[in-house]
Amino acid sequence: METPTTERKKVIFSAIQPSGTITLGNYLGALKNWISLQDEYRCIYALADLHTITVRQEPANFRRNTLEAYALLLACGIDVQKSPFFIQSQVCTHAQLAWILNCYTQFGELQRMTQFKDKAAKHADNVNAGLFTYPSLMAADILLYQTDLVPVGEDQKQHLELARNIAERFNGIYSPTFTVPDAYIPKNGARVMSLQEPARKMSKSDENANAYVAVLDKPEDILRKFKRAVTDSEACVRRAEGKDGINNLMSIYACVTGLTDEQIEKEFEGKGYGDFKTAVAEAVIEHLRPIQARFADFIKNKDYLEQCYTDGAQKALAVSARTLNKVMKKVGFLPKAF
Ligand code: TYM
Repeated sequence: METPTTERKKVIFSAIQPSGTITLGNYLGALKNWISLQDEYRCIYALADLHTITVRQEPANFRRNTLEAYALLLACGIDVQKSPFFIQSQVCTHAQLAWILNCYTQFGELQRMTQFKDKAAKHADNVNAGLFTYPSLMAADILLYQTDLVPVGEDQKQHLELARNIAERFNGIYSPTFTVPDAYIPKNGARVMSLQEPARKMSKSDENANAYVAVLDKPEDILRKFKRAVTDSEACVRRAEGKDGINNLMSIYACVTGLTDEQIEKEFEGKGYGDFKTAVAEAVIEHLRPIQARFADFIKNKDYLEQCYTDGAQKALAVSARTLNKVMKKVGFLPKAF
């Protein structure tokens, strides 16, 4: 039998917050996959700026960070001809569906979110309702596009589980409405760790700038940060329990070179950590160099950026409005006459 050539491509959706620095963790855990999946899937990507205001933002910085994040993601390789790429606050369906989903999400479920607990502890003076209901907005982002797969790092797994539960609950109360999404988590890079405290996740909000590498860091800064990375006293490049620092550097090196653990261990047999750290830094610098060069071009061209995100928002609105209308009808809202 002939195989149909017009089989529906699976849908990929993911988003990132434009909250300042985009790190090597964001890149290896999520963005690198966003780029490589574009040919095989129907991808749609967003800057989750509504999520960002759960932490207070200075307006001018917030605007600049959003535009820079947009340019940087284009520089990483999002191809807007293939993958609509929009800014969440410009597509009104997200906030609308988020409200509805809030009414299908339990207080207890939100209370269990580890990211909420962490952020509430960190921003004790501003534990706002948005920080608490953040996962239902994230569920709305995903479910609006009938998403099959969500490429994210490991820290988003719990939020994704909740999105699945909300989708299943809604489908169960009414009838199948939402595709139930799966996480797409890379084997290497799913959890890039801090270079200073390798038992903790690499995070852009770390107070110690030596703990993370930003995608836009200068080569000399990247080299310095890797050279200062915390390791252990064994002086043997091999993956093993208790060697968090080396395990992390091996994962980063594997991501940017495509080498396996065995190949890496062989390459550095008999060599010290100094050589290994320099090699990791150089591989990362070379990997990021073309991205940094493209960023420098994109950020100069504000008109082009505006054209891309406006076009992305229009496309996203058209797709997401279909889901929102379906949801509103099922819930029992009176249809609009305009
Ligand atoms: P955000 O902006 O914190 O991070 C963006 C992506 O980067 C991944 N990531 C990491 N991966 C590996 N190692 C790390 N150290 C590391 N740090 C961050 C995250 O897992 C994420 O994939 N809530 C989301 C944004 C969002 C979203 C969505 C994601 C809003 N709506 C819908 C997917 C689908 C967030 O704050 O990610």
